[in-house]
Amino acid sequence: MGNQDEVRKNFGQKASEYRLSSTHNNPTDLERMINLLNLSPEATALDVATGGGHTAIALAKRVKQVTAIDITPEMLAEAKKASRLEGISNITFKMEDVHNLNIPDCQFDIVASRFAVHHFHDVKKALIEMCRILKPGGKLYILDCSVLDGEEPEKYINRIELLRDSSHQCSYSPRLWYNLLKKLPLIIDQTSLLRRRYEIPQWFDRMGTNQNSREEIFRILNGLSEESKICYPFGDDYITTYRFEILATKSIKSP
Ligand SMILES: C[S@@+](CC[C@H](N)C(=O)[O-])C[C@H]1O[C@@H](n2cnc3c(N)ncnc32)[C@H](O)[C@@H]1O
Repeated sequence: MGNQDEVRKNFGQKASEYRLSSTHNNPTDLERMINLLNLSPEATALDVATGGGHTAIALAKRVKQVTAIDITPEMLAEAKKASRLEGISNITFKMEDVHNLNIPDCQFDIVASRFAVHHFHDVKKALIEMCRILKPGGKLYILDCSVLDGEEPEKYINRIELLRDSSHQCSYSPRLWYNLLKKLPLIIDQTSLLRRRYEIPQWFDRMGTNQNSREEIFRILNGLSEESKICYPFGDDYITTYRFEILATKSIKSP
């Protein structure tokens, strides 16, 4: 039993906010992904959990064909609208669940997913699917919210994320990511842990976080150890989060 209904409910209500979100449409972040992927104009790409379509659109400007998938119909509608407004015509939008992709093996040169893995209720299955449909030698790019290694951030920062968004499953720390990645047919090219500041109330408003949860989040932040507070500075109008970025190549010889 997954969290798909919760995802559709939460994202369905906030779909246009995600299309208009300056966090998800940040040109520096998108350019960083594009530079890392070193794209060929002949390449085909899959954008997993396209949300407002920002990743798919950035890829579509540089490759031949993009398929963008998501489970939330309102999100797909917003992503289509965004691509139309940009005059993009080489994206195919499909309603698909990452855990069970209706796509044959070894189809894409690129599989990318930004700000979505923390929603996947069976991350191992989702990652196996993402690798399955990637061609041998193809590139996997993942950017997702993350937490620092250690019991306190892994437990309490995830609790904060869940209070903000009831469809949240897990923001993986680097150590948890390495455990997941080592079981996949991948060669890891690069990983980065990136620190980011999110403005409040936008960070709450984008997900429609209620007032009780907002207050509980600040209670948790105030109760963190001094060591964690140094790594997670916060104020009335901002919080600190981390992201984990992965660039990997699918092994030519898969097990
Ligand atoms: C924050 S948005 C993604 C943002 C987008 N990737 C970008 O680059 O701006 C998260 C998306 O994940 C989608 N999602 C969550 N679980 C999913 C699943 N199991 N399969 C496909 N999409 C999923 C949600 O519907 C939502 O649109």
